[in-house]
Amino acid sequence: ASGLFTYDPGFMSTASCESEITFIDGEKGILTHRGYPIDQLAEKTDYLDVCYLLLHGELPKEAEKAKFQDMIMHHTMVHEQLHDFFTGFRRDSHPMAVMVGVVGALASFYHDSLDITNEKHREVAAHRLISKMPTLAAMAYKYSIGQPFAYPRNDLSYGGNFLHMMFSNPCENYEVNPVLARAMDKIFILHADHEQNASTSTVRLAGSSGANPFACIASGIAALWGPAHGGANEAVLNMLAEIGDESNIDEFIARAKDKNDPFRLMGFGHRVYKNFDPRARVMKKACDEVLSELGIENDPLLRIAKRLEAIALEDPYFVEKKLYPNVDFYSGIIFKALGIPTEMFTVIFAVGRTPGWIAHWKEMISGPYRIGRPRQLYTGEKIRDLD
Ligand code: SDX
Repeated sequence: ASGLFTYDPGFMSTASCESEITFIDGEKGILTHRGYPIDQLAEKTDYLDVCYLLLHGELPKEAEKAKFQDMIMHHTMVHEQLHDFFTGFRRDSHPMAVMVGVVGALASFYHDSLDITNEKHREVAAHRLISKMPTLAAMAYKYSIGQPFAYPRNDLSYGGNFLHMMFSNPCENYEVNPVLARAMDKIFILHADHEQNASTSTVRLAGSSGANPFACIASGIAALWGPAHGGANEAVLNMLAEIGDESNIDEFIARAKDKNDPFRLMGFGHRVYKNFDPRARVMKKACDEVLSELGIENDPLLRIAKRLEAIALEDPYFVEKKLYPNVDFYSGIIFKALGIPTEMFTVIFAVGRTPGWIAHWKEMISGPYRIGRPRQLYTGEKIRDLD
């Protein structure tokens, strides 16, 4: 039970493990990281504080924070030869396909962080991934639009540097808006960790075989890609665009209730939260702040989203099934307001979730562990002879 999967016959479809990192109470809508509630972390700390907290169990003191920030921000560049790796992808590849490939490929560049039995190697791998995920994400975007890669700037905040690498170009001056940089930082905080979700469980299972950290994180990125998981933020925007106008909302609400219609309200519902997702509340507030800063409070998609949320929250079907907006419902609207294209939404989720994946990987392999082996209930043919 030391962070491994154990088979509990009472829950035929799930495995369980022990962890000290994140606590969720789905009925009460509680999410804490090392005991601190997510709304307090989002309002009173920054993303690198939360990375340090997830990795080390405590928020950094001033000197610890300065050292951690300096080390993370001074390793944001990737090996120049990795630039060539991108040229193997079609320009119109989904950036998550690029991220799965490039993050796994880091294992061929960072030999000082592959020996998982070596504490120093584990520490280096954790820090390099936090440093380089935003750089690789922005490179995937730049590559898709045919613009040159923007080198990271060590003088900017983590969120500000990401916006700089996404939107600056050699032909004009790009000033990072501090309000948008803080919103980006908050978005990363809200995605940082979430207990044993599908992608984190994938990282732990991969790690239990002794795979190197880059391969484990690449497996988490692959699992996150699905529309039922991290891909939901992209699906929310596509759904709002399909609804198109507030007058069409009732038709889509009816479709979401129709058992014969595969349509679901993307950004609603959750495996664990059966009351409300505390992250959605913080995300909604950040959304209002960003749209007000940009002077687009009346964004039509936001209007449809708010109307859809109001209707769904009163509808007996959704109330009875305990379907509330989750973290993905408003994140896509903020990303769109920041000028981020929909195919990059899940990539940003992956960047934000990296410290959570790493913290769970480290927690599991830092103590005695065995390879994970989720059990099955065999329902196939009885033993039979060929002749
Ligand atoms: C994330 O695990 C995590 O922590 C994940 C995550 C993280 O931070 O890592 O929080 C991130 O993945 C958030 C979820 C993003 N996904 C979406 O928004 C996609 C839309 N949501 C659904 O696909 C669904 O709600 C799930 C997958 C999120 C939850 O699935 P559950 O808990 O297994 O719920 P269910 O599929 O069993 O649904 C229960 C009932 C069903 O009706 P009945 O079969 O009981 O009649 O509610 C219905 C479902 O049909 N339902 C929905 C619905 N979600 C569930 N009906 C309409 N619209 C929806 N969104």
